[in-house]
Amino acid sequence: MSAVVRAACVLLLGLLWASCSSHRVHIPPHEEVARMARFITHQCDWASMATISTHQPIVGKPFSNLFSVSDGPLGRSTGVPFFYLTRMEVSVQDLQVNPAASLSMSLAQTHYCKQEGFDPQSPLCAHIILSGSVLELANGTEADFAKKSLFSRHPEMIDWPSDHDWFFAKFNITQVLVLDYFGGVKSVTPEQYFNASPDRKHH
Ligand SMILES: *[C@@H]1O[C@H](CO)[C@@H](O)[C@H](O)[C@H]1NC(C)=O
Ligand SMILES: *[C@@H]1O[C@H](CO)[C@@H](O)[C@H](O)[C@H]1NC(C)=O
Repeated sequence: MSAVVRAACVLLLGLLWASCSSHRVHIPPHEEVARMARFITHQCDWASMATISTHQPIVGKPFSNLFSVSDGPLGRSTGVPFFYLTRMEVSVQDLQVNPAASLSMSLAQTHYCKQEGFDPQSPLCAHIILSGSVLELANGTEADFAKKSLFSRHPEMIDWPSDHDWFFAKFNITQVLVLDYFGGVKSVTPEQYFNASPDRKHH
């Protein structure tokens, strides 16, 4: 192999490696539980949300559904999941009667668990369960931030039909459970959760 060809091969391999490794998801250490919770919230573009149904024949029963979420533009995590909702939506109708809800998000929604070969139900494929309530945001600074957070990560929302009366909402967190690694479910207080950062140990 000539030196030129060899140099070209090394360069090509280097480019391939760089483009593959840039898609790898690197998770926080397992012992930083609050940070792991913040990391999962920020990585996920959608969540499963359970409400108490107001619809026959399952009135009063749990009802789980899917929503696009964002806790901030990429790299600007707040930990607060924001939503873009319409009252025409079946779960949102439940929330009008009872705003209590539960959200779950998982690293199975990122490339991480497939990349590592972890089943979504494995404790190595971390997930979180948030409890709280969904609160509509009045027009103002917080709604503006919700809009920036959602529209930057879900650009097609901009074109969703305006006659659906979309509004912004946030998830008001009262409990954070983290299923990550061995030893059972771990709990972090909302304070610990909001004081953590997905990127660093602490602010
Ligand atoms: C926000 O402003 C729009 C347009 O002025 C109004 O229709 C809507 O009811 C307001 N929403 C809230 C939550 O204040
Ligand atoms: C929001 O959550 C906090 C706990 O984090 C709770 O004290 C407060 O009552 C909740 N507010 C509403 C309106 O649900």
